[in-house]
Amino acid sequence: LGWDFKQVRIIKVNLSQSSYEIQIGVGLLRQVGDTLKSSGFQDKAAIITNPAIRELYGNSLKADLEKAGFRPVILEVPEGEEHKSLGWAGKLYFSLSEYQAERMTPVLALGGGVIGDLAGFVAATYMRGVPLIQLPTSLLAQVDSSTGGKVAVDHGRLKNMIGSFYQPKLVIADISSLKTLHEKEFANGQAEVIKHGLILDRSLFETIESGVERLESMDEEFLQDVISRSIAIKAGVVEKDERDMGLRNILNYGHTVGHAIETASDLSIKHGSAVAIGMVAAGMISERMGILPSSELDRIISVISRVRLPVKIPGLNIREIMEVMEHDKKKKGGKIRFVLLKAIGQGFISNEVSVPLVERVLMELS
Ligand SMILES: NC(=O)c1ccc[n+]([C@@H]2O[C@H](COP(=O)([O-])OP(=O)(O)OC[C@H]3O[C@@H](n4cnc5c(N)ncnc54)[C@H](O)[C@@H]3O)[C@@H](O)[C@H]2O)c1
Ligand SMILES: [Zn+2]
Repeated sequence: LGWDFKQVRIIKVNLSQSSYEIQIGVGLLRQVGDTLKSSGFQDKAAIITNPAIRELYGNSLKADLEKAGFRPVILEVPEGEEHKSLGWAGKLYFSLSEYQAERMTPVLALGGGVIGDLAGFVAATYMRGVPLIQLPTSLLAQVDSSTGGKVAVDHGRLKNMIGSFYQPKLVIADISSLKTLHEKEFANGQAEVIKHGLILDRSLFETIESGVERLESMDEEFLQDVISRSIAIKAGVVEKDERDMGLRNILNYGHTVGHAIETASDLSIKHGSAVAIGMVAAGMISERMGILPSSELDRIISVISRVRLPVKIPGLNIREIMEVMEHDKKKKGGKIRFVLLKAIGQGFISNEVSVPLVERVLMELS
C-alpha cells in the first residue's frame, strides 16, 4: 500500500458491457476539461446542476471547460428531491435539444445524489443514451449514488420508481468539494461509509474507529483514503451483481429499519440518520440471535454515536414503524429480509428474523 495523497486514486469498475474509472482526489474538479479531452470528448458538454452548486463549482467548471476548448452549457434544476421528477427530466430534454446536444455530447452531473440520479436518468434516455460523467459533490453521492449505475426519478411519493441501469463513463470525486457541504449532509454520507465497513471491510471500519477526529475535521488525506475504500466496496458488489439480482442486497444493511423510520417520520428524519439507527437495530438483532458477539455490537454503537449520528429512535411510534416495514416489499412469507452481521466486516442476508424480535429491539431503542 502507501499512496501519495496528492495523487489521484483510481478505482476501476469492471462490467461485462461497460467498464469505467472512478477518480478520487483533491482539486480534481479543476482538471475536468483536460480529463475529458484526454478521454476523447470535444466540443459540447452539458453540465446539469442546481443554483447553489453552480455558484460554488459550476461556473468555474464551465470556464475551465471553455479554456480546454469546449463549448459547454449549464442547465439548472432547482434544489430538492421534489425536482427529481419526470417533469424536470422533460425540461432537461428540451434544453438539451435546444443546445443541439448530440449522441456524443457528455452530460456532466454536478451535485449530490438528486442531481446525479436525475441527470443520469436524462443521460440514459436522451437520444437513447448519451455519455454520463458523474461529478459527485456530496459525501453520499461520492461513496454511494454515483457508483453503480442506478439512475431514476421519483413518481409522486414513490421514490426512484422510474429508472434504469445506466453506467457512467467516468466518475470524478473531488474531495475538496466536501468542504462546503453542510454538516448534516456530511453525516448523511458517513452513515453509508460506516455501512460499507460493517458489511464487507473490517479494516475500513477500524480505520474510522481510530480516526473519527480526522474524519470530523475533514482531513483530506484521511477522507481520500476512507472514501476510496468505501467506493471500492460498493464497486466490488456492483461488479458481481450489476442488475441487483441478489448480492447487491447486502448494501441495504441498516436500510430495512432505516427506510421504515424515514417513512414513519414523514421524511423529517434524514436518510443517513435513519440508516444509522437501522444499523444499530440490525446489529442488535444479529446479537440477540446469537450471531454477532456483543463486544462487536458495542463498537458499532460507539462509532456511530462518535460521528454524531443517532443510535436511538427519537419520539416515533414503534407500531407505525413496524407497519411500514410489514408493508415493505422486502417482506417475504411472514419474515422480513434483513442484512445481519456475523462480525464487523461480515454481512449476510437473512430471512430468519422474526417480527417480534424486530419489535422488541425497536422498543429497546425508543
Ligand atoms: N443511485 C443510487 O444508487 C442512489 C443511492 C443512494 C441515494 N440515491 C439518491 O441520492 C439522493 C440523495 O443524495 P444526497 O444525499 O447527495 O442529497 P442532495 O443531492 O439533495 O444533496 C444534499 C444537499 O447538499 C447540497 N450539496 C451537494 N454538494 C454540495 C457541496 N459540495 N457543497 C455544498 N452543498 C452541497 C445539495 O445542493 C443539497 O442541498 C436521493 O434522491 C437518493 O434517492 C441514489
Ligand atoms: Zn442509503
